[in-house]
Amino acid sequence: MPLTIVLRVFWRTGNVRDHNSRGAAQGGMRLVAAETPRDGTRVAVRVPAKVNLFLAVRGVRADGYHELATVFQTISVFDDLCVALVAPPGRGHHPASRPHMRLELSHDEVQGVPAGDANLAVQAGRLLGESAHMIEPGIDSERVGPRTIIDLDKGIPVAGGMGGGSADAAATLVALNELWGTELSRDELRELGSRIGSDVPFLVVGGTAFATGRGTALAQVLCRGEFHWVVCPDSASLATADVFKAWDKTCEPSEVEPDAVLQALRSEDAEALGAALHNDLEPAAFALRPRLAERKERLLTAGALGVMVSGSGPTMLALASDHAHAVALAAEVREGGFVARSPAGGPEIVRR
Ligand code: C5P
Repeated sequence: MPLTIVLRVFWRTGNVRDHNSRGAAQGGMRLVAAETPRDGTRVAVRVPAKVNLFLAVRGVRADGYHELATVFQTISVFDDLCVALVAPPGRGHHPASRPHMRLELSHDEVQGVPAGDANLAVQAGRLLGESAHMIEPGIDSERVGPRTIIDLDKGIPVAGGMGGGSADAAATLVALNELWGTELSRDELRELGSRIGSDVPFLVVGGTAFATGRGTALAQVLCRGEFHWVVCPDSASLATADVFKAWDKTCEPSEVEPDAVLQALRSEDAEALGAALHNDLEPAAFALRPRLAERKERLLTAGALGVMVSGSGPTMLALASDHAHAVALAAEVREGGFVARSPAGGPEIVRR
């Protein structure tokens, strides 16, 4: 195994309601003394989470994945990722030394965040590095050469149905493409992303999109204005694969179409969007976690325009008519929810 993988994750402390106001990439790089990266050898990217405003499961495919029709949108809940190129003291970043690059991520214990190879950011960095010949298989991992370090600052709920791991993979592709100067287009990064996970291609681009297939075939969708949400994470995660397995046991393929959601997005109509929100995975998530159905009822009773599980859950999303309504709703239901808005752009380079 040619790469040394250590993952550093900084979980944000403080009130989750600070998601929107928090400065970008505040999780600091922690490097060995005398390895401070120089100008141009460090890139910070802020990446939003995703929600599925519409998700229909059409059936099971030959490859075992499920055929989807889904409307993705980014939402203002962010992870911040910082990549840095460091050379050993007294040695530079000569391009000739780069095939011996080591990719390092380090891991502070954060519940539910996969370590090492299981982390999608690691997989994304390795895939980009190998396809761009930045990382060669078979190098001597003990060799004292240049290293690339990835620091991750989590703000997106872990395994919450908001694409947090996929967002980190997308951010890693964008950040390392810049840091390493590999000059792949966003389309090429999307293609690489599809090999990592079904949500990664969308999160490389962000905004609003209609997706089919595994969720990787994307068409941009017009969305006017902003929508305001209360995001209610659950205290325990749900694995996407388990939710799809529960769908296999309890649900039938559906023919429902996204027209009403697309029309509501075009016409900036929160009330129509609330009525049109649809997620075929919701009954499967409720079967695995019955308290989610009760939470949905409480949010609807409190006056949300629409409520649904985000993706495979368990995070619950309640749509409000505007920001003030979202703040009032979050305060009234006391579900530990925080306010966010959508759409929220895509991964953005915030510092070099
Ligand atoms: O693509 P990704 O690795 O994010 O998917 C996680 C799991 O969710 C897959 O292993 C699969 O079990 C399930 N999945 C699916 N059909 C999809 C997307 C995901 O069955 N379209």
